[in-house]
Amino acid sequence: MPPFMPLSLVLMLLVTNASSTLPGAAKEQRVWAKVGDLALLPCHLSPQELRSHGKQLYEKTALRWERRGKSSHKEPHMVLEVEYSGLLKRARSMIPRASVKEASFRQGNFSLWIEPLLSDDAGHYEALVRYGKETQRCQVKLDVVTVTVNPPGLLVETEPLWLNCNSSHSAKLVGVQWFHNGSLVPISSRFQAHHGALSISRLSVSDSGPWHCELTYSDNEKVFATFNLQILGLAGPASPVVYAAAGSAANLPCTLNRDPRASGILGVSAHWSHLAGRDLETWAIFRNGSKGSFNLHLSEVGQGDSGQYRCAVSIHATTITRDVTLAVITVTPSIKGPVAEGSHLLLICSLTHPRGHERFQWRQLSSGLTNESSFEATSRGPGVQHYYLGSTLELTTVSQEDIGTWECSVHGSEGRLGAVEYELYITGAQLAESHPILDGQVSFSLILVLLLLLVASLLALVLRSRRIFLPAFPALERVVIAPTPGNAKKDEGQEEKSLQTEC
Ligand SMILES: *[C@@H]1O[C@H](CO)[C@@H](O)[C@H](O)[C@H]1NC(C)=O
Ligand SMILES: *[C@@H]1O[C@H](CO)[C@@H](O)[C@H](O)[C@H]1NC(C)=O
Ligand SMILES: *[C@@H]1O[C@H](CO)[C@@H](O)[C@H](O)[C@H]1NC(C)=O
Repeated sequence: MPPFMPLSLVLMLLVTNASSTLPGAAKEQRVWAKVGDLALLPCHLSPQELRSHGKQLYEKTALRWERRGKSSHKEPHMVLEVEYSGLLKRARSMIPRASVKEASFRQGNFSLWIEPLLSDDAGHYEALVRYGKETQRCQVKLDVVTVTVNPPGLLVETEPLWLNCNSSHSAKLVGVQWFHNGSLVPISSRFQAHHGALSISRLSVSDSGPWHCELTYSDNEKVFATFNLQILGLAGPASPVVYAAAGSAANLPCTLNRDPRASGILGVSAHWSHLAGRDLETWAIFRNGSKGSFNLHLSEVGQGDSGQYRCAVSIHATTITRDVTLAVITVTPSIKGPVAEGSHLLLICSLTHPRGHERFQWRQLSSGLTNESSFEATSRGPGVQHYYLGSTLELTTVSQEDIGTWECSVHGSEGRLGAVEYELYITGAQLAESHPILDGQVSFSLILVLLLLLVASLLALVLRSRRIFLPAFPALERVVIAPTPGNAKKDEGQEEKSLQTEC
């Protein structure tokens, strides 16, 4: 057995002694390739040869690639032949896998391509090139690595997997190591080694990506093969929590990490259930899933909708599940019904399914005292918006400045999780009605007020002209005192009336 140089192979092949193509007495080159991939058996002139004989390449060229018999007494047999006439012949077993690039002959390149490579292709090859008066001979030993992935094809999360690597190298195999994303795979309960093969008990999406095996032989030969695993599974975090304001829509995620149809997999179905208390509400939503998306849309969530949901996606015989928690954010005011000006009000913001790390923040989004129906924090400029930390907002004395939209937002380490809005209306103040939704009513009450004012002034005139002095009309006075939106001034520097509460 020839003493082989230690050699590494990554994915395709590496060629050793690439320049040792001496005419007549060619040294054998060694090529490693992975079954199923492309194998390139090199044969080309060295730059010196190309300089001295290159011109003759423009004359007729004949090339014959042959394979030595598996046992030494067997005759070599033709793999591929290009005659002087340009006629191409191939062994039946090599059609259409073997080819040469005739266009590169003039660059002195007579390499043989075999694609896809079969494990049976391992062996000794020889090329004989005749051009002008010259002859070129190349000898190549082709070794193959076989990577076996069982089950084959697209893999599905949670399925077991079995990997094996072997090669055509004849020395004794002394060790196999497995690498994923460049790191050595530790042998554990999930990854087990059996005679060089690796078994994975439950595939996870994180097992996707580049793998490689490294085979070590007793003669110190090391062989690498690289391959890629594609694992179909659910995208995103393992147990997502969706935060939604009571009354708003919610979208519960359940999306495959790739479109199964792109891999030729049809007949994927999904099924959502709500694990509410003891009742197992079940929606039998079987959708073909556009691009593998089976998100559940809830148009209006209430507190009763909160809790655990389960999305089960069936792909062939495998069912993968994803539990999604719907946490509903609600605001509970301490005063039910209309809030009178001057009262003490607590707005309690709560979450049906807290994870424990959430923080709450209150702010007033729009004030009833402004002309704008709503405005963003940015439009007021930084530093103007007031933030109140804590889940409970306390308004010790509700005033007209508090009228408007209040927002309770929920924040976690990952950022803003969700928010709920609360509309504060005040009774006993005309301003409480200056909300945009009530614009019609505002104009109506304005007209009413102006009419009453007119009547009152007319009455006053009449009374004064009659010189009859009567006590004031209490009802009319109240109306006159009530401020109109025109003279209400927006007070930017609202005083904080909150009690800071930590939760
Ligand atoms: C010979 O041609 C093949 C492609 O046909 C190419 O991959 C290879 O690098 C070439 N070799 C040299 C030495 O030019
Ligand atoms: C490598 O393994 C495959 C499948 O496990 C087998 O078919 C093949 O014969 C093996 N090759 C060698 C050289 O042991
Ligand atoms: C899913 O696709 C199949 C075939 O394309 C069709 O027969 C079936 O009606 C589809 N199901 C749904 C729910 O759209």
